[in-house]
Amino acid sequence: MLVNKFVKITTNTQYFMNSKCFTHQSRSPTINTPFFPEMPDCKHIPSTYTGPNYEDIKTAHETFVSPSLKPFYKEPLIIHEGKRQWLWDHRGKRYLDMFGGVATISVGHSHPRIVAAIIEQTSKLNHVSSVYMQPRLYEYVCGSEANELAFLMARLHTRNHNIISLRNGYHGATYGTSASTAISTWKYPFIVQPPGYLHAVYPDVYRAQWGGSKCRDSPIQTNRYCDCNQEQCIASEKYFCDFEEIFRFSSPYTEGVAAFIAESIQGIGGTVQYPKYFLKRVYEYVHKKGGLCIADEVQTGFSRTGEHFWGFESHGVVPDIVTLAKGIGNGFPLGAVVTSTEIANNLNTALHFNTFGGNPLACAIIEEEELQKNAQTVGTHLINLLNTLLSEFPNTVGDVRGKGLMIGIELISNPETKQPLETERMLEIFEDVKDMGVLLGKGGLYANILRIKPPLCVTKEDADFTFEVIKKALKKHQEKNSKV
Ligand SMILES: Cc1ncc(COP(=O)(O)O)c(C=O)c1O
Repeated sequence: MLVNKFVKITTNTQYFMNSKCFTHQSRSPTINTPFFPEMPDCKHIPSTYTGPNYEDIKTAHETFVSPSLKPFYKEPLIIHEGKRQWLWDHRGKRYLDMFGGVATISVGHSHPRIVAAIIEQTSKLNHVSSVYMQPRLYEYVCGSEANELAFLMARLHTRNHNIISLRNGYHGATYGTSASTAISTWKYPFIVQPPGYLHAVYPDVYRAQWGGSKCRDSPIQTNRYCDCNQEQCIASEKYFCDFEEIFRFSSPYTEGVAAFIAESIQGIGGTVQYPKYFLKRVYEYVHKKGGLCIADEVQTGFSRTGEHFWGFESHGVVPDIVTLAKGIGNGFPLGAVVTSTEIANNLNTALHFNTFGGNPLACAIIEEEELQKNAQTVGTHLINLLNTLLSEFPNTVGDVRGKGLMIGIELISNPETKQPLETERMLEIFEDVKDMGVLLGKGGLYANILRIKPPLCVTKEDADFTFEVIKKALKKHQEKNSKV
Protein backbone atom coordinates (compact mmCIF):
# COMPACT_ATOMS: atom_id res chain seq x y z
CA MET A 1 0.00 0.00 0.00
CA LEU A 2 2.72 2.42 1.02
CA VAL A 3 4.75 1.47 -2.03
CA ASN A 4 1.80 2.14 -4.33
CA LYS A 5 1.19 5.51 -2.81
CA PHE A 6 4.84 6.27 -2.95
CA VAL A 7 5.03 5.53 -6.64
CA LYS A 8 1.92 7.57 -7.24
CA ILE A 9 3.13 10.70 -5.51
CA THR A 10 6.55 10.68 -7.06
CA THR A 11 6.01 9.86 -10.71
CA ASN A 12 6.40 13.49 -11.74
CA THR A 13 9.76 14.09 -10.18
CA GLN A 14 13.00 13.14 -11.80
CA TYR A 15 14.56 12.50 -8.45
CA PHE A 16 12.46 9.53 -7.40
CA MET A 17 11.76 7.97 -10.75
CA ASN A 18 12.42 4.27 -10.76
CA SER A 19 13.36 4.19 -7.12
CA LYS A 20 11.49 1.93 -4.74
CA CYS A 21 10.27 2.34 -1.22
CA PHE A 22 13.27 2.63 1.11
CA THR A 23 11.47 3.06 4.37
CA HIS A 24 14.08 1.23 6.42
CA GLN A 25 17.15 2.91 5.06
CA SER A 26 19.04 5.56 6.88
CA ARG A 27 20.34 6.84 3.58
CA SER A 28 18.42 7.16 0.39
CA PRO A 29 19.87 5.12 -2.48
CA THR A 30 19.42 7.89 -5.01
CA ILE A 31 20.94 10.76 -3.02
CA ASN A 32 24.53 10.04 -3.96
CA THR A 33 24.12 9.78 -7.70
CA PRO A 34 26.92 11.39 -9.72
CA PHE A 35 24.56 14.33 -10.24
CA PHE A 36 23.97 15.16 -6.60
CA PRO A 37 26.43 16.26 -3.90
CA GLU A 38 27.24 13.50 -1.47
CA MET A 39 25.21 13.55 1.72
CA PRO A 40 27.17 13.07 4.96
CA ASP A 41 26.66 9.74 6.70
CA CYS A 42 24.25 9.18 9.53
CA LYS A 43 24.16 6.08 11.70
CA HIS A 44 20.63 6.41 12.98
CA ILE A 45 18.15 3.98 11.43
CA PRO A 46 14.65 5.45 11.46
CA SER A 47 11.61 3.38 12.34
CA THR A 48 9.15 2.39 9.65
CA TYR A 49 6.33 4.82 9.11
CA THR A 50 3.06 3.08 9.90
CA GLY A 51 0.64 6.02 9.96
CA PRO A 52 -2.14 6.93 7.54
CA ASN A 53 -1.19 7.03 3.86
CA TYR A 54 0.09 10.14 2.14
CA GLU A 55 -3.00 10.88 0.04
CA ASP A 56 -5.33 10.63 3.04
CA ILE A 57 -3.17 12.99 5.08
CA LYS A 58 -2.93 15.42 2.19
CA THR A 59 -6.71 15.38 1.72
CA ALA A 60 -7.27 15.85 5.45
CA HIS A 61 -4.82 18.73 5.49
CA GLU A 62 -6.51 20.42 2.55
CA THR A 63 -10.00 19.82 3.95
CA PHE A 64 -9.79 20.33 7.70
CA VAL A 65 -6.68 22.32 8.52
CA SER A 66 -6.79 26.11 8.51
CA PRO A 67 -5.97 27.41 5.01
CA SER A 68 -3.45 29.74 6.63
CA LEU A 69 -1.20 26.75 7.31
CA LYS A 70 0.46 26.31 3.95
CA PRO A 71 3.06 23.56 3.85
CA PHE A 72 6.30 24.03 1.88
CA TYR A 73 6.86 22.24 -1.46
CA LYS A 74 4.68 21.12 -4.40
CA GLU A 75 4.42 17.69 -2.82
CA PRO A 76 4.44 18.63 0.88
CA LEU A 77 6.55 16.39 3.07
CA ILE A 78 5.36 14.21 5.90
CA ILE A 79 8.24 14.32 8.34
CA HIS A 80 8.10 11.15 10.30
CA GLU A 81 11.22 11.05 12.46
CA GLY A 82 14.13 13.26 13.50
CA LYS A 83 17.54 12.68 15.05
CA ARG A 84 19.93 15.55 15.75
CA GLN A 85 20.23 17.47 12.45
CA TRP A 86 18.52 14.77 10.36
CA LEU A 87 14.89 14.27 9.36
CA TRP A 88 13.17 11.38 7.57
CA ASP A 89 9.98 11.48 5.59
CA HIS A 90 7.35 8.74 5.58
CA ARG A 91 9.21 6.89 2.82
CA GLY A 92 12.44 6.86 4.78
CA LYS A 93 14.12 9.51 2.66
CA ARG A 94 16.66 11.43 4.73
CA TYR A 95 17.08 15.23 4.77
CA LEU A 96 19.55 17.58 6.38
CA ASP A 97 17.44 19.99 8.41
CA MET A 98 18.89 23.45 7.79
CA PHE A 99 15.74 25.24 9.02
CA GLY A 100 15.34 23.66 12.45
CA GLY A 101 11.56 24.06 12.65
CA VAL A 102 12.00 27.81 12.01
CA ALA A 103 15.04 28.32 14.26
CA THR A 104 13.38 26.34 17.02
CA ILE A 105 15.37 23.13 17.29
CA SER A 106 18.38 24.36 19.19
CA VAL A 107 20.15 21.22 20.42
CA GLY A 108 18.95 18.76 17.78
CA HIS A 109 15.93 16.55 17.17
CA SER A 110 15.09 13.90 19.77
CA HIS A 111 18.06 14.77 21.97
CA PRO A 112 18.38 11.87 24.45
CA ARG A 113 18.54 14.18 27.49
CA ILE A 114 15.40 15.99 26.47
CA VAL A 115 13.61 12.73 25.74
CA ALA A 116 14.65 11.46 29.19
CA ALA A 117 13.50 14.69 30.87
CA ILE A 118 10.14 14.50 29.10
CA ILE A 119 9.61 10.89 30.12
CA GLU A 120 10.64 11.63 33.68
CA GLN A 121 8.36 14.64 33.98
CA THR A 122 5.32 13.26 32.15
CA SER A 123 5.47 10.05 34.14
CA LYS A 124 5.20 12.15 37.31
CA LEU A 125 3.10 15.19 36.49
CA ASN A 126 1.82 16.89 33.35
CA HIS A 127 -0.13 19.89 34.50
CA VAL A 128 -1.58 21.49 37.58
CA SER A 129 -1.15 25.16 36.53
CA SER A 130 0.69 27.96 38.25
CA VAL A 131 -1.77 28.16 41.14
CA TYR A 132 0.68 25.81 42.92
CA MET A 133 4.39 26.24 43.34
CA GLN A 134 6.65 24.16 41.10
CA PRO A 135 10.33 23.49 41.52
CA ARG A 136 11.17 24.37 37.92
CA LEU A 137 8.80 27.25 37.32
CA TYR A 138 10.23 30.48 36.01
CA GLU A 139 7.93 32.73 33.99
CA TYR A 140 7.17 30.49 31.05
CA VAL A 141 4.61 31.65 28.55
CA CYS A 142 4.72 31.22 24.73
CA GLY A 143 6.23 33.06 21.62
CA SER A 144 3.79 35.85 20.69
CA GLU A 145 2.44 35.72 24.22
CA ALA A 146 5.88 36.58 25.57
CA ASN A 147 5.83 39.78 23.52
CA GLU A 148 2.24 40.56 24.53
CA LEU A 149 3.25 40.20 28.16
CA ALA A 150 6.29 42.40 27.58
CA PHE A 151 4.08 45.11 26.04
CA LEU A 152 1.70 44.89 28.99
CA MET A 153 4.52 45.22 31.50
CA ALA A 154 6.08 48.14 29.63
CA ARG A 155 2.74 49.98 29.46
CA LEU A 156 2.04 49.45 33.14
CA HIS A 157 5.55 50.47 34.10
CA THR A 158 5.80 53.63 32.01
CA ARG A 159 2.09 54.56 32.01
CA ASN A 160 2.47 55.20 28.31
CA HIS A 161 0.80 53.28 25.54
CA ASN A 162 2.80 53.47 22.32
CA ILE A 163 5.00 50.59 21.27
CA ILE A 164 7.56 51.32 18.55
CA SER A 165 8.86 48.53 16.35
CA LEU A 166 10.98 48.46 13.21
CA ARG A 167 9.65 48.02 9.70
CA ASN A 168 10.27 44.50 8.36
CA GLY A 169 10.20 43.19 11.95
CA TYR A 170 8.08 40.22 13.08
CA HIS A 171 6.89 39.85 16.67
CA GLY A 172 3.96 37.43 16.53
CA ALA A 173 0.44 36.80 15.32
CA THR A 174 -1.75 37.84 18.26
CA TYR A 175 -3.76 41.07 18.07
CA GLY A 176 -1.11 43.27 19.67
CA THR A 177 1.99 41.57 18.35
CA SER A 178 0.63 41.46 14.81
CA ALA A 179 0.15 45.21 15.10
CA SER A 180 3.80 45.57 16.08
CA THR A 181 4.77 43.31 13.16
CA ALA A 182 5.55 45.52 10.18
CA ILE A 183 5.58 43.23 7.15
CA SER A 184 2.54 43.72 4.93
CA THR A 185 2.37 40.09 3.79
CA TRP A 186 1.65 39.09 7.41
CA LYS A 187 -1.26 41.51 7.76
CA TYR A 188 -4.90 40.62 7.08
CA PRO A 189 -6.99 43.07 5.09
CA PHE A 190 -10.02 44.76 6.76
CA ILE A 191 -8.71 44.11 10.26
CA VAL A 192 -8.25 47.38 12.07
CA GLN A 193 -4.95 47.56 13.86
CA PRO A 194 -5.34 48.35 17.57
CA PRO A 195 -4.08 51.79 18.60
CA GLY A 196 -0.66 52.25 20.14
CA TYR A 197 1.71 50.71 17.58
CA LEU A 198 4.16 52.76 15.53
CA HIS A 199 6.54 51.44 12.89
CA ALA A 200 9.91 53.14 12.52
CA VAL A 201 12.61 52.95 9.91
CA TYR A 202 13.70 49.92 7.80
CA PRO A 203 17.46 49.79 8.37
CA ASP A 204 18.40 47.14 5.79
CA VAL A 205 21.89 48.07 4.59
CA TYR A 206 21.55 45.97 1.43
CA ARG A 207 18.10 46.92 0.16
CA ALA A 208 16.94 50.08 1.94
CA GLN A 209 18.07 53.66 1.44
CA TRP A 210 21.53 53.65 3.01
CA GLY A 211 24.29 51.12 3.39
CA GLY A 212 27.99 50.72 2.78
CA SER A 213 30.84 48.27 2.80
CA LYS A 214 31.46 48.18 6.57
CA CYS A 215 28.02 48.42 8.17
CA ARG A 216 27.28 44.85 9.04
CA ASP A 217 28.26 42.67 11.97
CA SER A 218 28.86 39.69 9.70
CA PRO A 219 31.78 38.07 7.90
CA ILE A 220 30.09 39.24 4.68
CA GLN A 221 29.37 42.86 3.73
CA THR A 222 27.02 44.25 1.10
CA ASN A 223 28.20 45.12 -2.40
CA ARG A 224 27.60 48.81 -1.59
CA TYR A 225 30.52 51.16 -1.00
CA CYS A 226 31.29 53.61 1.79
CA ASP A 227 34.42 55.28 3.10
CA CYS A 228 33.47 55.21 6.79
CA ASN A 229 36.17 54.37 9.30
CA GLN A 230 35.86 51.77 12.06
CA GLU A 231 34.29 54.14 14.63
CA GLN A 232 31.84 55.71 12.26
CA CYS A 233 28.86 54.45 10.25
CA ILE A 234 27.13 57.05 8.15
CA ALA A 235 24.30 54.69 7.21
CA SER A 236 23.65 54.11 10.89
CA GLU A 237 23.53 57.87 11.55
CA LYS A 238 21.04 58.36 8.75
CA TYR A 239 18.78 55.54 9.87
CA PHE A 240 18.91 56.90 13.39
CA CYS A 241 17.82 60.38 12.22
CA ASP A 242 14.93 58.69 10.45
CA PHE A 243 14.08 56.84 13.68
CA GLU A 244 13.95 60.14 15.60
CA GLU A 245 11.35 61.40 13.15
CA ILE A 246 8.79 59.05 14.63
CA PHE A 247 8.90 61.08 17.83
CA ARG A 248 8.67 64.30 15.89
CA PHE A 249 5.71 63.31 13.75
CA SER A 250 3.84 60.19 14.88
CA SER A 251 4.01 60.16 18.66
CA PRO A 252 2.06 62.63 20.87
CA TYR A 253 4.31 65.59 21.70
CA THR A 254 3.46 65.53 25.41
CA GLU A 255 3.59 61.79 25.93
CA GLY A 256 6.49 59.40 26.17
CA VAL A 257 6.65 55.92 24.74
CA ALA A 258 5.99 52.62 26.51
CA ALA A 259 8.59 50.55 24.69
CA PHE A 260 10.73 49.98 21.68
CA ILE A 261 10.94 46.36 20.48
CA ALA A 262 13.37 44.87 17.96
CA GLU A 263 14.83 41.55 16.98
CA SER A 264 18.62 41.46 17.19
CA ILE A 265 18.63 40.22 13.59
CA GLN A 266 15.30 40.29 11.75
CA GLY A 267 14.31 36.67 11.23
CA ILE A 268 11.11 36.31 9.23
CA GLY A 269 12.01 39.57 7.49
CA GLY A 270 14.89 37.67 5.86
CA THR A 271 17.95 37.72 8.16
CA VAL A 272 18.24 41.49 8.01
CA GLN A 273 21.03 43.03 10.09
CA TYR A 274 21.08 46.69 11.15
CA PRO A 275 24.11 48.90 10.66
CA LYS A 276 26.50 48.91 13.59
CA TYR A 277 25.79 51.34 16.46
CA PHE A 278 22.17 51.78 15.26
CA LEU A 279 20.48 49.78 18.01
CA LYS A 280 22.72 51.34 20.66
CA ARG A 281 21.77 54.87 19.57
CA VAL A 282 18.08 53.91 19.48
CA TYR A 283 18.18 52.33 22.95
CA GLU A 284 19.83 55.46 24.42
CA TYR A 285 17.24 57.69 22.77
CA VAL A 286 14.24 55.60 23.84
CA HIS A 287 15.53 55.49 27.42
CA LYS A 288 15.91 59.27 27.33
CA LYS A 289 12.28 59.48 26.28
CA GLY A 290 11.24 57.35 29.26
CA GLY A 291 10.52 54.16 27.33
CA LEU A 292 11.71 50.60 27.91
CA CYS A 293 13.67 48.57 25.37
CA ILE A 294 12.56 45.04 24.57
CA ALA A 295 14.90 42.59 22.86
CA ASP A 296 12.91 39.99 20.95
CA GLU A 297 15.33 37.06 21.16
CA VAL A 298 12.82 34.49 19.92
CA GLN A 299 15.08 33.58 16.97
CA THR A 300 18.46 35.02 17.90
CA GLY A 301 18.67 33.75 21.48
CA PHE A 302 20.27 30.61 22.87
CA SER A 303 23.57 30.87 20.94
CA ARG A 304 22.21 30.89 17.40
CA THR A 305 24.36 33.84 16.37
CA GLY A 306 27.49 32.06 17.61
CA GLU A 307 29.51 34.92 19.02
CA HIS A 308 27.19 35.49 21.98
CA PHE A 309 24.54 33.59 23.84
CA TRP A 310 22.07 36.46 23.22
CA GLY A 311 21.85 38.39 19.95
CA PHE A 312 21.55 41.79 21.68
CA GLU A 313 25.02 41.41 23.21
CA SER A 314 26.70 42.08 19.87
CA HIS A 315 24.86 45.43 19.68
CA GLY A 316 26.36 46.50 23.01
CA VAL A 317 22.93 47.13 24.58
CA VAL A 318 21.23 46.04 27.77
CA PRO A 319 17.48 45.54 27.29
CA ASP A 320 14.91 46.17 30.01
CA ILE A 321 12.92 43.14 28.90
CA VAL A 322 14.01 40.11 26.90
CA THR A 323 11.47 37.81 25.26
CA LEU A 324 12.33 34.21 24.46
CA ALA A 325 10.70 31.26 22.72
CA LYS A 326 11.61 28.71 20.01
CA GLY A 327 15.14 27.61 21.00
CA ILE A 328 14.27 27.66 24.69
CA GLY A 329 12.14 24.54 24.36
CA ASN A 330 13.80 22.72 21.45
CA GLY A 331 10.36 22.15 19.98
CA PHE A 332 8.21 22.46 23.08
CA PRO A 333 5.83 25.42 23.00
CA LEU A 334 7.68 27.41 25.61
CA GLY A 335 8.44 31.07 25.84
CA ALA A 336 9.70 33.34 28.58
CA VAL A 337 9.84 36.97 29.58
CA VAL A 338 12.94 38.04 31.46
CA THR A 339 12.93 41.37 33.23
CA SER A 340 13.71 43.12 36.51
CA THR A 341 11.59 42.60 39.61
CA GLU A 342 10.68 46.28 39.50
CA ILE A 343 9.14 45.98 36.03
CA ALA A 344 7.53 42.59 36.71
CA ASN A 345 5.92 43.91 39.91
CA ASN A 346 3.60 46.04 37.82
CA LEU A 347 1.62 42.88 37.10
CA ASN A 348 0.45 43.00 40.71
CA THR A 349 -1.98 45.78 39.89
CA ALA A 350 -4.50 43.20 38.59
CA LEU A 351 -4.96 39.45 38.55
CA HIS A 352 -2.92 37.78 35.81
CA PHE A 353 -2.99 34.12 34.87
CA ASN A 354 -2.42 31.77 31.91
CA THR A 355 -3.62 28.19 32.04
CA PHE A 356 -0.41 26.79 30.66
CA GLY A 357 1.96 29.40 32.07
CA GLY A 358 4.60 27.54 34.03
CA ASN A 359 4.67 24.17 32.27
CA PRO A 360 7.49 22.34 34.03
CA LEU A 361 9.52 21.08 31.02
CA ALA A 362 12.73 22.85 30.00
CA CYS A 363 16.27 22.12 28.78
CA ALA A 364 19.93 23.19 29.28
CA ILE A 365 22.31 21.34 26.96
CA ILE A 366 23.80 24.17 24.91
CA GLU A 367 26.64 24.89 27.32
CA GLU A 368 27.56 21.27 28.00
CA GLU A 369 27.82 20.41 24.30
CA GLU A 370 29.52 23.74 23.45
CA LEU A 371 26.88 24.44 20.84
CA GLN A 372 27.49 28.19 20.90
CA LYS A 373 31.08 27.62 19.80
CA ASN A 374 29.85 25.17 17.19
CA ALA A 375 27.32 27.72 15.90
CA GLN A 376 30.12 30.23 15.46
CA THR A 377 32.64 27.84 13.85
CA VAL A 378 30.25 26.02 11.51
CA GLY A 379 28.20 29.16 10.80
CA THR A 380 31.28 31.20 9.85
CA HIS A 381 32.56 28.34 7.70
CA LEU A 382 29.22 28.11 5.89
CA ILE A 383 28.74 31.85 5.37
CA ASN A 384 32.26 32.13 3.93
CA LEU A 385 31.47 29.33 1.48
CA LEU A 386 28.18 30.96 0.54
CA ASN A 387 30.01 34.23 -0.03
CA THR A 388 31.59 32.71 -3.15
CA LEU A 389 28.11 32.44 -4.68
CA LEU A 390 27.98 36.23 -4.97
CA SER A 391 30.70 36.27 -7.60
CA GLU A 392 29.72 32.96 -9.19
CA PHE A 393 26.04 33.88 -9.65
CA PRO A 394 26.01 37.71 -9.68
CA ASN A 395 22.71 37.80 -11.58
CA THR A 396 20.89 35.66 -9.02
CA VAL A 397 22.60 36.02 -5.65
CA GLY A 398 22.28 39.63 -4.49
CA ASP A 399 23.38 39.35 -0.88
CA VAL A 400 24.62 36.85 1.69
CA ARG A 401 24.36 37.90 5.34
CA GLY A 402 23.96 36.86 8.93
CA LYS A 403 26.22 35.40 11.56
CA GLY A 404 26.54 32.12 13.38
CA LEU A 405 23.79 29.77 12.31
CA MET A 406 21.38 32.48 11.22
CA ILE A 407 22.13 33.08 7.56
CA GLY A 408 20.18 34.58 4.67
CA ILE A 409 20.76 34.43 0.91
CA GLU A 410 18.86 37.09 -1.01
CA LEU A 411 17.97 36.06 -4.56
CA ILE A 412 17.44 38.65 -7.25
CA SER A 413 16.81 38.78 -10.99
CA ASN A 414 18.59 42.05 -11.71
CA PRO A 415 21.77 43.10 -9.90
CA GLU A 416 21.35 46.78 -10.83
CA THR A 417 17.78 47.23 -9.61
CA LYS A 418 17.92 44.42 -7.00
CA GLN A 419 14.59 43.22 -8.40
CA PRO A 420 13.65 40.24 -6.18
CA LEU A 421 13.76 36.87 -7.93
CA GLU A 422 10.29 35.97 -9.18
CA THR A 423 8.45 33.62 -6.84
CA GLU A 424 8.15 30.86 -9.43
CA ARG A 425 11.92 30.77 -10.00
CA MET A 426 12.68 31.05 -6.32
CA LEU A 427 10.43 28.05 -5.69
CA GLU A 428 12.19 26.01 -8.37
CA ILE A 429 15.50 26.51 -6.57
CA PHE A 430 13.85 25.77 -3.22
CA GLU A 431 12.37 22.51 -4.58
CA ASP A 432 15.65 21.42 -6.16
CA VAL A 433 17.51 21.96 -2.89
CA LYS A 434 14.93 19.80 -1.13
CA ASP A 435 15.16 17.08 -3.78
CA MET A 436 18.92 16.90 -3.18
CA GLY A 437 18.25 16.37 0.53
CA VAL A 438 18.50 19.78 2.22
CA LEU A 439 15.58 21.55 3.87
CA LEU A 440 15.84 25.35 3.97
CA GLY A 441 13.43 28.12 4.93
CA LYS A 442 12.32 31.09 2.86
CA GLY A 443 11.24 34.57 3.86
CA GLY A 444 11.49 38.31 3.49
CA LEU A 445 8.89 40.77 2.24
CA TYR A 446 9.25 39.43 -1.31
CA ALA A 447 9.76 35.81 -0.20
CA ASN A 448 13.08 35.85 -2.08
CA ILE A 449 15.43 35.02 0.77
CA LEU A 450 16.67 31.51 1.50
CA ARG A 451 16.86 31.18 5.29
CA ILE A 452 19.32 28.91 7.07
CA LYS A 453 18.72 28.27 10.78
CA PRO A 454 19.61 24.66 11.53
CA PRO A 455 19.91 22.88 14.86
CA LEU A 456 23.10 24.15 16.50
CA CYS A 457 24.70 20.69 16.33
CA VAL A 458 25.27 20.70 12.53
CA THR A 459 28.83 19.90 11.44
CA LYS A 460 31.29 21.40 8.93
CA GLU A 461 30.58 18.41 6.72
CA ASP A 462 26.88 19.30 6.78
CA ALA A 463 27.79 22.90 5.92
CA ASP A 464 29.89 21.71 2.95
CA PHE A 465 27.02 19.53 1.77
CA THR A 466 24.51 22.38 2.11
CA PHE A 467 26.79 24.69 0.13
CA GLU A 468 27.28 22.14 -2.66
CA VAL A 469 23.54 21.53 -2.89
CA ILE A 470 22.65 25.24 -3.05
CA LYS A 471 25.37 25.80 -5.65
CA LYS A 472 24.09 22.91 -7.74
CA ALA A 473 20.54 24.26 -7.60
CA LEU A 474 21.74 27.75 -8.62
CA LYS A 475 23.76 26.30 -11.48
CA LYS A 476 20.72 24.43 -12.75
CA HIS A 477 18.68 27.62 -12.48
CA GLN A 478 21.35 29.57 -14.39
CA GLU A 479 21.61 26.99 -17.18
CA LYS A 480 17.85 26.78 -17.56
CA ASN A 481 17.43 30.54 -17.75
CA SER A 482 20.32 31.14 -20.11
CA LYS A 483 18.47 28.92 -22.62
CA VAL A 484 15.23 30.90 -22.35
C1 LIG B 1 11.28 37.20 16.25
C2 LIG B 1 9.97 36.52 16.57
N1 LIG B 1 9.22 36.99 17.59
C3 LIG B 1 8.06 36.40 17.93
C4 LIG B 1 7.57 35.31 17.22
C5 LIG B 1 6.28 34.69 17.62
O1 LIG B 1 6.49 33.44 18.20
P1 LIG B 1 5.34 32.32 18.13
O2 LIG B 1 5.19 31.95 16.69
O3 LIG B 1 5.90 31.21 18.96
O4 LIG B 1 4.12 32.93 18.70
C6 LIG B 1 8.31 34.81 16.15
C7 LIG B 1 7.85 33.66 15.36
O5 LIG B 1 8.40 33.25 14.37
C8 LIG B 1 9.55 35.43 15.80
O6 LIG B 1 10.30 35.00 14.78
